[in-house]
Amino acid sequence: MSDQKFKVTIDNITVEVAPGTTIVQAARLIGGDVVPPTMCYYSKLEGSGGKCRTCLVEVSKGSEKDPRPMPKLVASCRTTVMDGMEVKSITSDKVLDARKGVTEFLLLNHPLDCPVCDQAGECDLQNLSYEHGAASTRYDFKRRTFEKEDIGPYIQLHMTRCILCYRCVYTANQLTDKREHGVLDRGDHSAISTCIGKALDNEFIGNVIDVCPVGALTDKTFRFKNRVWFTKPVDAHRDCPTCSGRVRLWMRGDEVFRVTARKDEYGEVESLENGKTAWICNTCRFEKKETKDWVIEGPTKVNRHSVISQGHYVNAVNGQPKLINDVIGKDPKLLLDIHKISDVNRPEIDLSQIEGPAHSDDFLPNQSTGTMKQIGKLGE
Ligand code: SF4
Ligand code: FES
Repeated sequence: MSDQKFKVTIDNITVEVAPGTTIVQAARLIGGDVVPPTMCYYSKLEGSGGKCRTCLVEVSKGSEKDPRPMPKLVASCRTTVMDGMEVKSITSDKVLDARKGVTEFLLLNHPLDCPVCDQAGECDLQNLSYEHGAASTRYDFKRRTFEKEDIGPYIQLHMTRCILCYRCVYTANQLTDKREHGVLDRGDHSAISTCIGKALDNEFIGNVIDVCPVGALTDKTFRFKNRVWFTKPVDAHRDCPTCSGRVRLWMRGDEVFRVTARKDEYGEVESLENGKTAWICNTCRFEKKETKDWVIEGPTKVNRHSVISQGHYVNAVNGQPKLINDVIGKDPKLLLDIHKISDVNRPEIDLSQIEGPAHSDDFLPNQSTGTMKQIGKLGE
């Protein structure tokens, strides 16, 4: 009975899976565009999913035994497959329409502050709106606002950006001894809060930053110091007594700006060889910001469609520096290491080392003019 398999067909591609597998897990086995977007489901967190409805799919055939279609779209992260089930994801207009609607709902109260949000460039909601969002909003009312709340020395909470996916709550529940935050109140007033204003200082609490699909929880040690697409991710490890020590360093030049867990193609923290999840501890994340703290394994493989891949490892990817010279002529440095000549921050200041968020004083006063000059140079 244990090796029984169910056949499920998603967008005309058939795959065999074990009973109990959800539609989204089956779709991930197929991979590519048929995989529904997931804003709240996180395979490494027990009980997650069922909150955001971005993963809706159409079940056009229930099963071999009962081929009737399901009357409504279903949340693929919460619906398990049946033998002979047929599912439509991107081949259903109804599904695409529903994703548009869900995206619009998620954006109702979400501020459009991507230009100043540290999550920009790696934000699931940003990606979702590029793929399924409308160009303008139909919402005329004032957006929700919240009292600012300090939730500790390492983590910045921007409640206006929160989409109430509950991932951070599950993370705190499942990874730390005592959870000190949760979702308070109901409906429009729901908010992530520390209940009694307690700091979230547990050794594994930094992982809430990695699971947050938007910029509601960000790293205070990285805040406003760089844009993620200017940094270069490299995989590294250290012998850590507390966690797996397997991390991703986000570097600019030789400076380590940020340390995160390593994530897979679905934006989830990777699994270790023993099947456990490679969550990282606060010490690795917030306190090891020197290259000498780490054994560097090499550049992270970045999806070429990601904004993070822009301008990275041009040599390594193309393998032909000569061609780059041919293309950009006299100033190859501009493509290879843009920050070195972009004249953005004061040369005497190591942005990765300063306490707290970067401030306008840390940048050169004529930053925008300087940048424009560089852009002009590139286009010449
Ligand atoms: S803070 Fe982030 S992870 Fe937590 S519920 Fe809000 S969106 Fe989800
Ligand atoms: S990912 Fe399925 S409901 Fe959110």
